[in-house]
Amino acid sequence: MKAVRIHEFGGPEVLKYEEVPRPAPAPDEVLIKVYASGVNPVDWKMRAGLAQSLFPIHLPFIPGWDVSGEIEEVGSDILIFKKGEEVYGRPEVTRDGTYAEYVAVKADQINFKPQSIDHDKAASVPLAGLTAWQGLFDYGHLEEGQKVLIHAASGGVGSFAIQLAKWKGARVIGTASEENIDFLFDLGADGAIDYKNEKFEDKITGVDLVLDLVGGDTQKRSLKVIKKGGRLVTTVQPQYKEEAKAKSIMMEAFLTRSLPEELQQLANLIDSGKIKPIVTRKFSLKDAAAAQKEIEKGHTRGKIVLTVV
Ligand SMILES: NC(=O)c1ccc[n+]([C@@H]2O[C@H](COP(=O)([O-])OP(=O)(O)OC[C@H]3O[C@@H](n4cnc5c(N)ncnc54)[C@H](OP(=O)(O)O)[C@@H]3O)[C@@H](O)[C@H]2O)c1
Repeated sequence: MKAVRIHEFGGPEVLKYEEVPRPAPAPDEVLIKVYASGVNPVDWKMRAGLAQSLFPIHLPFIPGWDVSGEIEEVGSDILIFKKGEEVYGRPEVTRDGTYAEYVAVKADQINFKPQSIDHDKAASVPLAGLTAWQGLFDYGHLEEGQKVLIHAASGGVGSFAIQLAKWKGARVIGTASEENIDFLFDLGADGAIDYKNEKFEDKITGVDLVLDLVGGDTQKRSLKVIKKGGRLVTTVQPQYKEEAKAKSIMMEAFLTRSLPEELQQLANLIDSGKIKPIVTRKFSLKDAAAAQKEIEKGHTRGKIVLTVV
């Protein structure tokens, strides 16, 4: 099969489009014919060797942690999926991924794809959608009527988080640069703050939850806007835990898990028109290096996907 692999850590040039052996599914796995793969910031971080302590991988390695496709083959223990069914999910991070024509995945890491959208859009959902869900609800415990501030709200995770928080009935404020402010309102935000020209801590108070997708100084300043007893949930380093504790704020970081029941909930929300994935750029599989150059800039609006078929 065709796949994109790395044989060494480095810049986008280490991504090689080449012929590799097609994987065979283990008894508890399925083999998916990949129609599309999502592109996420972790892709370039792992390619550059920056995530080895968190996600150790062995070379050569196929990146990619979002898939939408069709079941090609099922392992001997698999009863719930059969050949030809359309599925999506976020396969395990430390094994060969989805920048490929086929990927072998544990059956408990996927679910049926949303029916109302194509594979390109479906491939943009799992990692970012699950991260938004888990950050807001599993860790953030966001409830109806609460106020949530979402940093990097125009990106992959943020664009899902705004819509999910609105669906929950929260009051939602996002940060983005000027070019993306209208986009945040289009997604349903109640308020939008231009992080380059305004200080969010001067514009908002009494926040129940900050979903921090940026870290660093943004994380530190966020402690000023959260109410006592509130939370800051981050997808990056939790650098200011002591400062948070001193203010009676709960600060927590998490790694996204691929939970089939949450993939099902996301699919239901998409199929009922409550949330929609936003794909702004598409690249072919052999142009994976160009896609990674784009995600590495840190200014993607919505999601980037690789169209494989
Ligand atoms: N822990 C986990 O399991 C996990 C899971 C998923 C993601 N992550 C991490 O979470 C972060 C976000 O992921 P993502 O997929 O959403 O990234 P992304 O799609 O690349 O985010 C891009 C967005 O970030 C915005 N942005 C950049 N700097 C900003 C700032 N200082 N303040 C506000 N907005 C800013 C940009 O808006 P402008 O263009 O308007 O500046 C752009 O729309 C990444 O670091 C990723 O690695 C971790």
